[in-house]
Parts: sequence; C-alpha cells; structure tokens
Amino acid sequence: MCGIVGIVGNRDVAQRLYDGLKRLEYRGYDSAGICTIDHGKLERRRAEGKLDNLARELAQDPLHGTTGIAHTRWATHGAPTVSNAHPHIVGPISLVHNGIIENFKPLRDELIAEGRKFESETDTEVVGHLIAREVEGGAAPQDAVAKVLPRLIGAFAIAILFRDHPDLIIGARMGAPLTVGYGEDENYLGSDALAVAPWTQKIAYLDEGDWAVIRRDRIEIFDRENRLVEREIVESGASSAPVEKGNYRHYMQKEIFEQPIVVAQTLQSYVRPFEGEVALPVGDLDLSSVNRVTIVACGTSFYAGLIAKYWIEHFARVPVDIDVASEFRYREPVLEAGGLALFISQSGETADTLAALRHARAEQQRIAVVVNVPTSSMAREADLLLPTHAGPEIGVASTKAFTCQLAVLAALAANLARAKGRLTPDDEAAIVGHLQEAPAAMNAALDHDDEIASMAHLVVPARDVLYLGRGPEYPMALEGALKLKEISYIHAEGYAAGEMKHGPIALIDDNVPVIVLAPSGPLFEKTVSNMQEVRARGGKIVLISDAKGIAEAGEGCMATIEMPQVHPLIAPLVYAVPVQLLAYHVAVLKGTDVDQPRNLAKSVTVE
Ligand code: G6P
Repeated sequence: MCGIVGIVGNRDVAQRLYDGLKRLEYRGYDSAGICTIDHGKLERRRAEGKLDNLARELAQDPLHGTTGIAHTRWATHGAPTVSNAHPHIVGPISLVHNGIIENFKPLRDELIAEGRKFESETDTEVVGHLIAREVEGGAAPQDAVAKVLPRLIGAFAIAILFRDHPDLIIGARMGAPLTVGYGEDENYLGSDALAVAPWTQKIAYLDEGDWAVIRRDRIEIFDRENRLVEREIVESGASSAPVEKGNYRHYMQKEIFEQPIVVAQTLQSYVRPFEGEVALPVGDLDLSSVNRVTIVACGTSFYAGLIAKYWIEHFARVPVDIDVASEFRYREPVLEAGGLALFISQSGETADTLAALRHARAEQQRIAVVVNVPTSSMAREADLLLPTHAGPEIGVASTKAFTCQLAVLAALAANLARAKGRLTPDDEAAIVGHLQEAPAAMNAALDHDDEIASMAHLVVPARDVLYLGRGPEYPMALEGALKLKEISYIHAEGYAAGEMKHGPIALIDDNVPVIVLAPSGPLFEKTVSNMQEVRARGGKIVLISDAKGIAEAGEGCMATIEMPQVHPLIAPLVYAVPVQLLAYHVAVLKGTDVDQPRNLAKSVTVE
C-alpha cells in the first residue's frame, strides 16, 4: 500500500528518496512522486505506473534540494493519474498521505465554499488545503498542523513540507504506520524501517495520534494532546541490502522455494523435537482457561485461520469463531470477557485486522497475534506474540508467510490441546514428529515444479477455474483459487467438494478446469465421488494427491500432480506448494506482473 519517505538532509535528497521508494515498492502502488524544496520553491516530479516512469521524469528534469518527501500511491480516492499522484502542492505546502480521510466530503465542501480550488480527486488534497489555509493566515507550521489534525477522521499517515521552512518536515500518524529515523546531521521519516534502513538503524515508531517535527539536527514528537513526548529509540535491524531474487525469475518464485527452510526456522521457535513437546511463549497467559477462540484475519491469512479452526477444534475441542476482519466489528460479535482473540497477519498492519484487534481488546479479549513483521503495530499490541520467521515477503501474493502461519497455528492448536488436558504426551510427541516432517515433505512437493510448469498451459486458456477440497483442504482450495485470481487474473473459486452439487456444478463444462486437492485418507472416497460428478459432466480434472490417491482415482484426469504421502496434519502445508506453483506458472505463461499484480497491495492500510 502507499509508501512514504522523507529526508531533512545536508545534501541533495531526490536520488535517495527515489531509492527509499524502491525499497517500499513491494507494498504495491500505481503511481509515485517526489517533492523537494529548491531555493524557496516546492519542486516535484510525479508519474503514473511503475517507479521506472518516475525515474525517467527525474532523469529528464532532475530535482534539487536537501529536504524532500516521496510517495508511492495505491489509489483509493481518484484514479491513478499524474494529477492524483502525491505529493500534492497547495500554496506554501506539499504533502503525501497514506490512508483515507473519511470526512473528506464535508471538509472539501467547506473549502470549496471559501473559494478554494482543487486540482485532484483525492481526499489528501483536502488536508493540504486545511494546512495551507492556516499557514497562509500566518500560522507557524507546527501550529497549523496542531490545529488541523483534530479535524481529520480516518486512518492515515502524512508528511508535510513547508516551502518557507527548508529545514523541516512534519509527519503525523493515526491508524497507519510511520517511523522516524535519527541520522548524523540528517533525519528521516518512513512508512517502515526498511524505507530508511541504508541511512540509519536508529528509529522510533510513532504511536497512534503522534506527530513529529523533524529538522536536520533534532526530532520532536508530540502526542494527540500536543504534549511533547519521548518515544523509545530502537535499533531497527532492517537490512539495508535490497532483498535479492538470486537465481529466481520472480520474488514469488523464490519465496515459494524458500518455504521448507523458513517453515523449519519457524518451527524451531515452537517445538522441542527431542522432548517431543510444543512450546509456545505463552508467558502468564493461562491457555487452560480458554473456552473459545475468535480468529480474525484477511486474505490468505484468513485461510490460514480457517485451517487453524479445523485443528483447534479437532485437537483442543475448543470452539472457534472465525471472521474476515472487515466484517468482524460491524456484525457486533458476541465476545465473552476473557476469551482468546487470535489475529493473523503477514504485515501486522492490515487496517481491518488492526481495527478488529482493538475492538476485541475493548471487549476484554486476550489478544494473540501471528505476525511476520515483528515490529508491526499488531505485534506491539499483542498479549501473546507468535512471530512467523518467514523473512521479508516481497511478492504481493503471500506464499511463505502463509505456510509459516500454518506451522505456528498447528503448534498453537497442540499447545492449547495440552493445556486443556486433551493431549497425552505420546499424542503430543506424535504431533511434533509430524510437524518436523513438513519441511522435507514440502521439498518433495517442490520437486514437481517442472511437471507443474509443463501442465500450466492446460489452465491458461480457461475463463473460470474451480478448486475443490474437503476438511483442511477446503480452505486450501480457497487459497488455491485466490492465488490464481491474484496473479493470473483468471476467475477462480474454491468450494468444499461436497458443496459442488448445490450450485457450482452448473458451471461445469469442458472449458472449466477443476483442481481437486485430495490426499488419500478418510475423506478421500467422498471427494472422489464429487470428482465423478464433475467428470460425468465433461469437467476436466487436475488431481493433486499422493501415489495411493492417484492410483485409485487418477485415471481419466486431465492431469495429476503427485504429492508425498503425509500425515493429514501437515497436508495443508504440503498441498500449498502445488497450488502456489500452478498459479505462478499460469501467470508466467500469461505474462502478468507476478510480483506486483494489478490493483493489489501487499499491506492494505485502508479499511
Ligand atoms: C493483501 C495482500 C494479501 C494478504 C492480505 C492480508 O490483500 O495482497 O496477500 O493476504 O492483504 O494481509 P496481512 O498482511 O494482514 O496478512
């Protein structure tokens, strides 16, 4: 989602601002821009589309100046055009903004009634006019910002340049992350630690409602009551080296192939293989008193949560409610005080999930968070922090973060089951043993990459694709369909295999590939019956199963993909691999932008 970078520097900043935007590129965006103060003038370059377009603008017409702000925009209000791209300039100020100003309409009406002219369709420009009005009326920058911030409703992070104050940026945070960086005779601002990593490792995260006055030699932070406050300065640990693709063609491909390693890495924190025990850092959280778990997440993380529901109910016999975060607060969920609310998120910044977390906190829930960015807002607001150790995930479509989430959630289910007295030491040791087998089994699944690449052309011409699964493979079917949609733009839906006959079967003809995820085991026969229903109607099946399943039901399929024989607990981790690879290879054949698919953002910080 939108990225913000700012430098109050001692030498030209445009190139470094551009490099900062490059580091934020993974978040997803559709236009970009930079503004600097050059000899008392605000100068900017903006471009639609990828950063290369902005680079061309800068090459043709370089920007000078030692203080500047930069932005990658993911369009919300107004199309991704140059005039809607940030930074916006309104009279003596320029600003960039991430998030949404929910009350922009009445504010805009008020400003238009005063005769103010708008140049864009964005909500951001409203903030620009509000601040410019104060500054034009003689207010000092700090006073102007302090006056305007309380008028803004919504979730946002902003950074503002003042034409007549070449040594100043003011940044503010309300609901969207913002970080200040402390340098040598320079100071910085960024959406995350990665943005400023090559320049400084000394950073402070702004709290909700904070705003920061950044000058070359000092940073002052104020809270929402405009009181000067101290925020802890921490070592960010963010690498300044760009994450490389190595020999891979895309980040997503690299991240798919990293899974055995990062899942093993993640498991190390949650299981003790020699003792045959799961070991979560529960601290003083008493899991034995948990009588209900409420899971909330978005997108791929939501599907990890759906799989966790199967596991938690199966092993711990604790009822699980699960919601997509955007629905959770608004359906007025009944939450008994003391329940466990579990939030799953790669970024830890997804606005809907973060708002749901705060709602659950207000409803006296204990907050557990499975998150891949340990410095994120969700991580910082958790009672029980369960990090995944997937490393930076750059591809917008989530892959390795998802399987690492599954590894943590399986361990959590087992830990909860033990706390509830539902697991004998032998059962626990068996679970640990199965989890330990997952990385090797995922490696075996990756060995089928060539085969999947060579059958991808069978899916490329399809307009619609169906994915079917039962039990925990049902959420995997949903995730498979999501992956295909996200990166190949082919319409795909996942269904519980048994639900086919209640509607989706009407779609079946010989143009609709049906991908069936069916490890052999107790539910296999039933899934095979559903496959036969598809086949009887001319449907073309791709069966993903193990050798036993393929021997039994592979005949007559358009293609089969053989997975290793695995325990049902780890099947979702293993079956994630072929669905990811299939989506990947279809997208490559279609020539789409695999790592930054159209319209999508890595971390969605608007509701
Ligand atoms: C975006 C991404 C998805 C991701 C979802 C939830 O839509 O494109 O890949 O699954 O957000 O993100 P989170 O960071 O909360 O897991």
